[in-house]
Amino acid sequence: MHRLTVVDHPLAQHKLSLMRGAETPSNQFRRLLREISHLLAYEVTRDLAITTETITTPLTDMDAPFLAGKKLALISILRAGNGLLEGVLDLIPSARVGFVGLYRDEETLKPVQYYFKVPDNLPERRVIALDPMLATGNSSVTAINLLKEAGAKDIKFLCLLAAPEGVAHMKEAHPDVEIVTATLDSHLNELGYIVPGLGDAGDRMFGTR
Ligand code: URA
Repeated sequence: MHRLTVVDHPLAQHKLSLMRGAETPSNQFRRLLREISHLLAYEVTRDLAITTETITTPLTDMDAPFLAGKKLALISILRAGNGLLEGVLDLIPSARVGFVGLYRDEETLKPVQYYFKVPDNLPERRVIALDPMLATGNSSVTAINLLKEAGAKDIKFLCLLAAPEGVAHMKEAHPDVEIVTATLDSHLNELGYIVPGLGDAGDRMFGTR
């Protein structure tokens, strides 16, 4: 049931290498993330259902393919998810958008929800949860728990980098959720950062520390 798709397209790999560089400034990092999101969006939507409608071209009528069903729901896991969101919205501008905010409780080390706002009719929509970094998987798994509690049934998880630890966690907690990523990196370090990784995605995007 569980699927991991690594988008190894040369353009995605080239852009990711540029993003990894420690000297790449925030403005360039954001632009690259937006560009690479287009390639990831292409892959994560590959199996969307299609219907046909009759249209009239300048030459003739034809049965033309269109996306079927309710509009997609894109769920950004704050704050780094917003970096993927912009690029995915470029390709799917009519998608509905939701946000999940989680912080880590310093005592229990467990993710705690501080914000949750998602589109209606979630059970009838393809849901794509967005977070550039699948590291331990704690926040991603929690976010997907919340989405399932809200009724989501058809969920994919889109990230830029994944660690084997996060993939294993997701696979155990949510075997039905396909992961689409640009790379499967080596491991997590003792602080939970992905190695070789690119550092803190939110800080790299927004120029914070
Ligand atoms: N979150 C990040 O932003 N970077 C990591 O390497 C791991 C989690």
